[in-house]
Amino acid sequence: MKKNRISKNWINKQRRDIYVRQSKIEGYRSRAVYKLKEINDKFKILRNGQSIVDLGGAPGSWSQYLSSTLKNTKLLAIDLLQIQEIKNVKIMKGDFTEDIYKKKIKSFFNTKIDLVISDMAVNTTGNKNVDAIVTGELAMESIEFAKEMLKTNGQFVTKIFMGSSFNEIVSKSKKYFKETSVFKPPSSRKDSKETFLISRFLRS
Ligand SMILES: C[S@@+](CC[C@H](N)C(=O)[O-])C[C@H]1O[C@@H](n2cnc3c(N)ncnc32)[C@H](O)[C@@H]1O
Repeated sequence: MKKNRISKNWINKQRRDIYVRQSKIEGYRSRAVYKLKEINDKFKILRNGQSIVDLGGAPGSWSQYLSSTLKNTKLLAIDLLQIQEIKNVKIMKGDFTEDIYKKKIKSFFNTKIDLVISDMAVNTTGNKNVDAIVTGELAMESIEFAKEMLKTNGQFVTKIFMGSSFNEIVSKSKKYFKETSVFKPPSSRKDSKETFLISRFLRS
């Protein structure tokens, strides 16, 4: 009973949500695309010619946006879930935290890259607090990966949750990058603890 009520609430919320409607009109697979657009409007992280890895990319709206707006880019998206094909994007299905996939990503680019973006989140336990903690661990793992993958002055964006490992990841970012910002895009749901860390200009 309770589960039905929750899913009905979720469906009603989705119907009322202007970003969900807009993403359908524009042909994006998820409303998440507007978060990336808003981050880019503010921080200008995207440029033609960049090599970019999209961690936790399913269903694929961020990569759809990158592929359709940027020229001469090298793009890879990885997720635990299958991502349907996107033009000019190398799709990988797997757990980004496993060494084998980190190696595969490195060998696909075969050189340092410009940008690592991560919208990774877990939604497995049914307990929002526990999910937020695990998602925080994913963010910590992705900042270490970004440090290895990025060129000097490369950039990193990740979803993080207020609480859990927030302070730890912000101080890591300050250590590794010249500029660190925390930004909640207007399209991020007000009742969500989600926010984004924007780390710019990797120190050499
Ligand atoms: C909010 S969704 C991403 C939405 C995406 N940015 C888009 O625009 O369509 C979060 C994704 O993170 C993925 N994820 C969680 N843990 C992961 C891991 N260890 N490796 C790869 N993907 C992971 C989930 O499977 C889920 O699809």
